[in-house]
Amino acid sequence: MEPTLLTSPPATRSPRGRRTSPKVRADWERLSQEIRACRRCPLGRQRTHAVVYRGSLAPRVVFVGEAPGAEEDRQGIPFVGRSGRRLDAAIRTLGLGAGAYGVLNVLKCRPPANRFDPKAARTCRPFLDRQLSLLRPALLVTLGAHALRAIDPDAPPVLTAAGRLRAGADPPLFPLIHPAAALRSRRWSDRWDRDLAALGEWLRTGPGTNL
Ligand code: URA
Repeated sequence: MEPTLLTSPPATRSPRGRRTSPKVRADWERLSQEIRACRRCPLGRQRTHAVVYRGSLAPRVVFVGEAPGAEEDRQGIPFVGRSGRRLDAAIRTLGLGAGAYGVLNVLKCRPPANRFDPKAARTCRPFLDRQLSLLRPALLVTLGAHALRAIDPDAPPVLTAAGRLRAGADPPLFPLIHPAAALRSRRWSDRWDRDLAALGEWLRTGPGTNL
């Protein structure tokens, strides 16, 4: 059976050939429903849709964003706006097929004015932990400062950490700047491209080849 994909694009076999058991799929569905029903913090009472996940249930790489924006809130799918298009182009550049990756956020509901809300992130945190323990990715790629801090509170500032593997993290962690930053100026676009090339190199020829 192919790994389950929760939104398009169509499934391909996970590169590691990992299968999702019926139990994992049932647990995932239950967790997703819990997230969609959550009203534990003010963000949950203001949103249009909780934004759970898109991608494979047996991903090699999971990209961790910060919080849904307006378009994500409208559609209930992570990274479907402008920064999502930049992210998807990056994923294509990395050569990750549809069965090989997933995308989610630290916060499941859009914060007002897109301002990251650390208190809501603490309330939301068990959802992220449960998602990652079901997905069991071989590599996490954080997008932006808030995602990096949520996953690795001891990491240096994102501009220092981005573009190289964080040694000792489990699963391994490769921070990037946020794709929205790459849309803002030539300088950050160049930085995004450079860090992405380093990630591609690590996946293709470094230890990441075996993940
Ligand atoms: N920015 C994020 O961090 N996540 C999204 O889903 C969209 C934009």
